[in-house]
Amino acid sequence: MRIGILTGGGDCPGLNAVIRAVVRKGITEHGDEFVGFRDGWRGVLEADTVPLDLGAIRGILPRGGTVLGTSRTNPYGIEGGPDRVLANLERLGIEALVPIGGEDTLGVATKLAEAGVRVVGVPKTIDNDLDSTDYTFGFDTAVGIAMEAIDRLHTTGDSHHRTLVVEVMGRHAGWIALHAGMAGGANVVLIPERQFDVDAVVAHCQHRFDSGYSPIVVVSEGAAPKEGDLATSSGVKDAFGHVRLGGIGAALASVIEERTGREARAVVLGHVQRGGTPSAFDRVLATRFGLAAVDAVHDGQSGVMVALRGTDIVRVPLAAATAKLKLVPVERYAEVEVFFG
Ligand code: F6P
Repeated sequence: MRIGILTGGGDCPGLNAVIRAVVRKGITEHGDEFVGFRDGWRGVLEADTVPLDLGAIRGILPRGGTVLGTSRTNPYGIEGGPDRVLANLERLGIEALVPIGGEDTLGVATKLAEAGVRVVGVPKTIDNDLDSTDYTFGFDTAVGIAMEAIDRLHTTGDSHHRTLVVEVMGRHAGWIALHAGMAGGANVVLIPERQFDVDAVVAHCQHRFDSGYSPIVVVSEGAAPKEGDLATSSGVKDAFGHVRLGGIGAALASVIEERTGREARAVVLGHVQRGGTPSAFDRVLATRFGLAAVDAVHDGQSGVMVALRGTDIVRVPLAAATAKLKLVPVERYAEVEVFFG
């Protein structure tokens, strides 16, 4: 079979492990031929391809990023985009497509499947907010990086008797903040799902100072206060309409400094969380997703996404997986709240 592969949206560690697994199993067990599309849906729109043979995937398992490149191109936001995609797939003889992406990339995949393209999606996002799968690869690596940063910030914060506010990724969902904050022993964790009370945050910081230590506040970039407008963004939007976030950490640090009378600094982890080599967990998950995706293609499946349920890799409808985001439930947040202050 001739199968197309693409990686779309924000990159994350483990993308190359998926590509390697799909191509390796496809060629050695099924005699498939692979076409890599450059930079997500842009490559399909512009028929910008790269051959993917066994030589092309050699040595890429531990490498961060994606050898195919990525973009946030949305064919459905471009006039005539879907028709160009369909025409290019036909012209290139693509019999099945394996898009690796999050809600946006797989949202496009869902529509293409409805239009008759054979599609098997692979879930990816460091935010871990894709529904229908327990975890996405990349998340574990990002949490590990954020946890290590928090560990380091505890000692320098305590030495200088100052608050350190750590801004982590998480546009709609606070999974990274929740897990890294719990693993790193943060004194406050703020997530997009729950608007926060600035007075309570300041009180937790004060309490921490009173106990002889310095507070660490972990805040998702998408978190916002109940009142007022602390959150900032550049106003720049991507092709899927998402605003570029950033600035909540600095804004919060300045309020905490003013209200506690002690210095507060913000640390923005940013793309450090997305770069570099994947953790062992993410390499294994990404590899298993890749193997399962190529199996699904050969089982004649379409409009499905491979997903992790417990320890099993299963197939779920793409439409269900992209219908809504997986947000942090109240009871999970309550677990980390025990450690506030
Ligand atoms: O969607 C994943 C994500 O990492 C979000 O947490 C974040 O808001 C966004 O990507 C940042 O994207 P970019 O690197 O394109 O600015």
